[in-house]
Amino acid sequence: MNLNLTNQVAIVTGASRGIGRAIAELLSQEGMRLVLAARSEADLKHVAESCKTETVIFPADLRDEKNPQLLIDFAISQFGQIDLLVNNAGATKRGDFLQLSEDDWQDGFALKFYSAVRCIRAAWPHLSKSQGSVVNIVGIGGRTGSADFAIGGAVNAGLLNLTKVLADKGITDGVKVNAINPGYIATDRLKSRITALAAEKGISADQAALELADSLGVKRFGNPAEIAAAVAFLASGVSGYCQGTILDADGGRTRTL
Ligand SMILES: NC(=O)c1ccc[n+]([C@@H]2O[C@H](COP(=O)([O-])OP(=O)(O)OC[C@H]3O[C@@H](n4cnc5c(N)ncnc54)[C@H](OP(=O)(O)O)[C@@H]3O)[C@@H](O)[C@H]2O)c1
Repeated sequence: MNLNLTNQVAIVTGASRGIGRAIAELLSQEGMRLVLAARSEADLKHVAESCKTETVIFPADLRDEKNPQLLIDFAISQFGQIDLLVNNAGATKRGDFLQLSEDDWQDGFALKFYSAVRCIRAAWPHLSKSQGSVVNIVGIGGRTGSADFAIGGAVNAGLLNLTKVLADKGITDGVKVNAINPGYIATDRLKSRITALAAEKGISADQAALELADSLGVKRFGNPAEIAAAVAFLASGVSGYCQGTILDADGGRTRTL
């Protein structure tokens, strides 16, 4: 299937590793020109080197209120257009509700919620002009609460609602806005958890991964490339009638409607 993304311009936040890296690499394979954001300049350079199309990097802390606007300005200065914004940067601290500090809450919302709000607000006129798209990478914790994921759950629920709000606005303004809820994806963080479990139980990493997946109610963990494929679909005209769609890419973990 030809997604017709060649030469379009995408901004991917949190592109230095994990899911964001996979998204950047796949969009590049599909011919998109890229602006990649995260804090680590070295990691971003590394990802940019693996991209086949024109790719520029914007190393910055997106919790800083002024940086989302600067990122969008940078993208326009480099390419003169924005066709896709992928809000992927995010890290929220897990833990018991009573142990989470005021700073933990502020930090979780500052990165994953407010940076997305600010990036979308700054990019919106450009996306409206290009009739472009926003894809928010959110998470299944936004639908299903769990005791050790208070911050992530609240942030994700907020982002899912914002996706619906902006999808409504996008009907008028010509911007397609959708979200993906990844389930348990095998990024470095999860791999470390599997390695630790394997060492603790004296079993192989493969066996530990199977046992962990089983305990979480899925057959296997997802690959970052599977989330990237969903982004490419939502970025393309193939998904032209998806507006405010929340796509659970979670191996069947979410059983509720
Ligand atoms: N992996 C999963 O199983 C899973 C499940 C559900 C949802 N998600 C969501 O999917 C997204 C990506 O997850 P992931 O597992 O790929 O995460 P990850 O491996 O921890 O990568 C996070 C990315 O965000 C960047 N980042 C972190 N803090 C930042 C800051 N202050 N300013 C700018 N960039 C920052 C990181 O780069 P730097 O450190 O260089 O800044 C990195 O590129 C997140 O929003 C996460 O909540 C993941």
